[in-house]
Amino acid sequence: MKRVQPLQAMSFPLEASRRYDRLARFFHWAVFLLVAAAYAAIELKGFFPKGAPTRSLAMSVHEWAGMLVLVLAAPRLLWRLVRGAPAPEPGPRWMHWAGEAMHWVLYAFILAQPVLGLLTVNAGGHLLTLPVLGIDLPAVVGTDPGLKDLLKEIHETIGTAFYLVIGLHAMAALFHHYMLGDNTLRRIWR
Ligand code: HEM
Ligand code: HEM
Repeated sequence: MKRVQPLQAMSFPLEASRRYDRLARFFHWAVFLLVAAAYAAIELKGFFPKGAPTRSLAMSVHEWAGMLVLVLAAPRLLWRLVRGAPAPEPGPRWMHWAGEAMHWVLYAFILAQPVLGLLTVNAGGHLLTLPVLGIDLPAVVGTDPGLKDLLKEIHETIGTAFYLVIGLHAMAALFHHYMLGDNTLRRIWR
């Protein structure tokens, strides 16, 4: 395996068969930004006093960044199933297996977490309203306070756990790039 210097490596594109296609790269980084926005908004919400308009704005940003994650995650997964992924970079079998397993866990997360959030809102007796247009999305489940508490608990636990999972995924990418000097990060970068 040819070792390349990380900064030098990022400056020229990898040949097409060795990297994710343009749409897969777009999906990856758009979903990343939206997930980061959903996390930032829910953390910010905690700083605003109850009843403040900024608090409900932060909640709306959380909900809509999260819903957009779902809107992108579904076609993204379909695209992945249709197009597959480029052949892995050279490396031990356990590393390929661990990377692959991590990716499917992340796919499950970007699909399940927004659905759990939406169900929590609906079970709490609220509808999601499209910003600007003011159109209510139909409820997926009816009002049920017990179910709402359960779903909220699951949504929050997964949300907290995935700080760690996403952190590990990002650290693995940086480890490949800076320590192993392979093309793993470049495959999805551009
Ligand atoms: C990828 C998308 C999402 C992520 C990563 C995410 C993550 C989180 C996190 C970390 C929390 C706070 C946990 C805590 O306080 O311990 C939370 C709370 C919550 N989320 Fe999400 N969420 C997402 C999508 C959504 C969506 C789409 C909705 C609704 C449509 C939603 C509704 C809620 C609600 C109602 C709460 C509880 C807020 C509160 O009562 O303070 N989430 N979410
Ligand atoms: C919300 C955050 C993120 C999510 C949900 C996420 C999700 C994913 C998923 C599902 C894949 C597999 C793609 C496929 O095979 O179809 C992937 C690949 C990848 N991600 Fe992320 N990612 C996130 C953040 C990041 C960050 C911050 C970095 C870099 C610092 C990163 C680096 C990579 C790399 C290098 C790959 C390709 C790995 C390979 O080809 O073996 N990801 N990501």
